[in-house]
This record gives sequence, C-alpha cells and structure tokens, in this order.
Amino acid sequence: MKKTRTFKTLLVTGGAGFIGSNFILYLLRKYQDYQIINLDLLTYAGNLANLTEVEANPNYKFVKGDIADKKLIYNIVKDVDIIVNFAAESHVDRSILDSAAFIHTNIMGTHTLLEAARINGLKRFHHISTDEVFGHLGPYDPPFNEKTPYAPRSPYSASKAAADHLVNAYFNTYGLPTTISNCSNNYGPYQFPEKLHALFITNLLEGKKVPLYGDGRQIRDWLYVTDHCEAIDLIIHQGKPGETYCIGGACEKTNLAITKKILELLGQGEEMIEFVTDRPGHDRRYAIDFTKIKTELGWVPKTPFEEGMKQTVEWYRNNAQWWQNIKSGEYLEYYQKQYGIK
Ligand code: NAD
Ligand code: DAU
Repeated sequence: MKKTRTFKTLLVTGGAGFIGSNFILYLLRKYQDYQIINLDLLTYAGNLANLTEVEANPNYKFVKGDIADKKLIYNIVKDVDIIVNFAAESHVDRSILDSAAFIHTNIMGTHTLLEAARINGLKRFHHISTDEVFGHLGPYDPPFNEKTPYAPRSPYSASKAAADHLVNAYFNTYGLPTTISNCSNNYGPYQFPEKLHALFITNLLEGKKVPLYGDGRQIRDWLYVTDHCEAIDLIIHQGKPGETYCIGGACEKTNLAITKKILELLGQGEEMIEFVTDRPGHDRRYAIDFTKIKTELGWVPKTPFEEGMKQTVEWYRNNAQWWQNIKSGEYLEYYQKQYGIK
C-alpha cells in the first residue's frame, strides 16, 4: 500500500501560466478542502483570465509577486505545507534573444523558494522541470529516463538544469523533501500563443500562415496538459522525497506532422505552411521513457493524440476572445490598470 500524503495549504507558483492554471483548476475541482495560493508575477505569459472559473472560490487566493522576492516569499511560505513550482520563463526562442530573465526567475527564483522551504521545514517542494535538460537525441537513440546525464543546449534548458541541480542539492545537503518531474511538450487549453500548437491554431483561425522552422522534421513527444496535471498530483501525494520522475506522452511526432494535423482539423491546405529560418541550436528530437512513474505510481497518459488534438483545436475555436485579447495585447493593458505593471 502506497503512503498518500495530504496537505492543507499549497503554494502554486506560476499558476497564471499555461500548465500552472490548468493544475489549479484541476486541484480545486478534485480537492474541496485544499487552500491554494497562486503566486505569479504576471509577466507577458501570466493571464488571470485562465482562472475566472475559480476567482470567487474561497479556497483560492491570488498574490501578485516575484518568486525571487525574498521578503515576500519568506512571508508567504511561513503558512504553507508544500510548494509546487511552475513559475519560469518558459519559451526557448525568447531565451535565445535575451536570457537575463531566465537566469533571474528559473535559477535565482527557484533558489529563493528552496531557501524559504528549508527555513520553514516544508513537507514537500515539488519542482516542475523539462525533458530539455537532457539535451537532444538522434533518430535511433533510446528515450531519456531519470538516469540520462544532463546536457542542456539552450539558455532556457541550461537555466532549468541549474534549478534541478539546486533542488537535488537541497535534498542531499539539508534533507528538504523535494521531488522533480521532467516532462515532455504539453499542449491544450490556455497555452500562450507563442508555442507551436497555440500559435499555429490561432494564426490559421485568423487566416494567417504558420511559420515552420527549418525542415519541420524535428521531433517532440506530446502530452495533453491534463495528463501532466494528473502526474504531478500523484507525485506530490505519493512520490518519494529525493526522486525525479520523467513524464511523457508516448507520442513522438515531427513538427510537420503536428502542423498537418492542425491543418486537417481546421479544413485548410498545406499552402498555409511557410518554411522559415531554423531556430539556432534547434534540438532535433526529444523522447521520454516514463516506466518509473508508470510502475511506481501507476500513471499513464490517458488522452489519445487524436482526441487531444481535436479538443485543443475546438477549445481555441470556441475561446477566440481569450487569445485575441492576448494577440492584441489587451490583457496586458488590463494588468497595467489593475496592478500598475508596465
Ligand atoms: P508559461 O510561460 O505559460 O507560464 C509561466 C508562468 O510563470 C507565467 O504565469 C508567468 O507570469 C509566471 N512567472 C514568470 N516569472 C515569474 C516570477 N519571477 N515569479 C512569479 N511568477 C513568474 O509556462 P508553462 O508552459 O505553463 O510552463 C510551466 C512550467 O512547466 C515551467 O517551469 C516550464 O519550464 C515547465 N514545462 C513546460 C512544458 C511545456 O510544454 N509548456 C513542458 C515541460 C515543462
Ligand atoms: O520539451 C518541453 C519544452 O517544450 C518545455 O520545457 C518548454 O517550456 C516549452 O516551451 C516547449 O519547448 P519547445 O521549444 O519544444 O516548444 P515550442 O512550442 O516553442 O516549439 C515546439 C517545436 O516547434 C520546436 O521544435 C520548434 C518548432 N516551432 C515552434 C514555433 C513557436 C516552429 O517550427 N515554429 C514556431 O513558430
């Protein structure tokens, strides 16, 4: 029988972003007695419109702030049992243009949270990481697993790798009960329209072409976002301190195959593809072996690719106002008024 922990108050960081907001919606639907604090800086990627469903829920509270702000973090962490750290600069292309914010948030911010967790003796620190820390694979290489050596290749993945090392150091040095999950590419509702799925679907809904990098033959392993949320739920409740869990969708696809599927679901033709200059240092292939979380915690991805793709395209079709506000910059104007953010 596996030991299942429970928590009273959870600090979810980066909960106004894509996966974090899906996770908060998931948690509040499943656990009626959990108090969730969502701490988010509301960068360009944070959007409180993702959370309108829960904003009046008495078990949910939003705090605007930076995970690297010591005073604020130390104050909040006093009253929580667990931190689930989603907050990050997450977009590879932005890290290539300017990596300073990635160092600040992904490394300094994670360090600030770890220190606060250590000082306050938290029951758990769960860190959301990525498969990109392992580098990239050739066509016949075996998938990444928990023992794959770290070999990050972009400023984004290097900053995530540094954070993972800090998390493990806090377990080994101080005995902080940490866990890490390294997940593959997510897709689904509320994804910022700079990432492949959300950008391509919304461009096509606007009648614009889609910019496919290089030859479009790069491979990613795709996971529907709710399946990722279920995996994190299991890890925080049943995962073993000090452990890392790899999470994947068993769904390797080329970017060209994803693009063709989106075109098919929207009834459009391949003339809408525009092949553009490749991303510098573009990782060729990611793949994940998720045997450990499957055998130890009983997790498997539930949403088949066809189903997930249909649901995703439908969601963006039915929620045009959500992404139009982002693409027009209107949601940022709202924050400027509401929170004085420049
Ligand atoms: P996202 O960019 O959509 O959201 C990031 C959130 O973090 C935003 O709400 C942003 O406002 C907030 N944030 C940024 N800097 C902050 C700071 N200094 N303090 C507080 N909040 C801050 O990202 P996402 O795609 O939801 O990814 C969430 C996490 O999952 C990240 O850690 C990312 O590395 C990891 N991850 C993402 C994927 C994916 O496919 N999207 C896959 C594996 C792992
Ligand atoms: O693997 C997990 C990672 O997945 C996460 O850690 C990152 O936070 C997340 O952003 C994602 O990184 P990718 O770089 O793989 O995702 P992105 O959606 O930016 O790109 C997916 C693939 O599509 C990649 O091979 C680049 C390509 N691409 C992307 C964009 C935005 C294009 O061809 N054209 C585009 O316009």
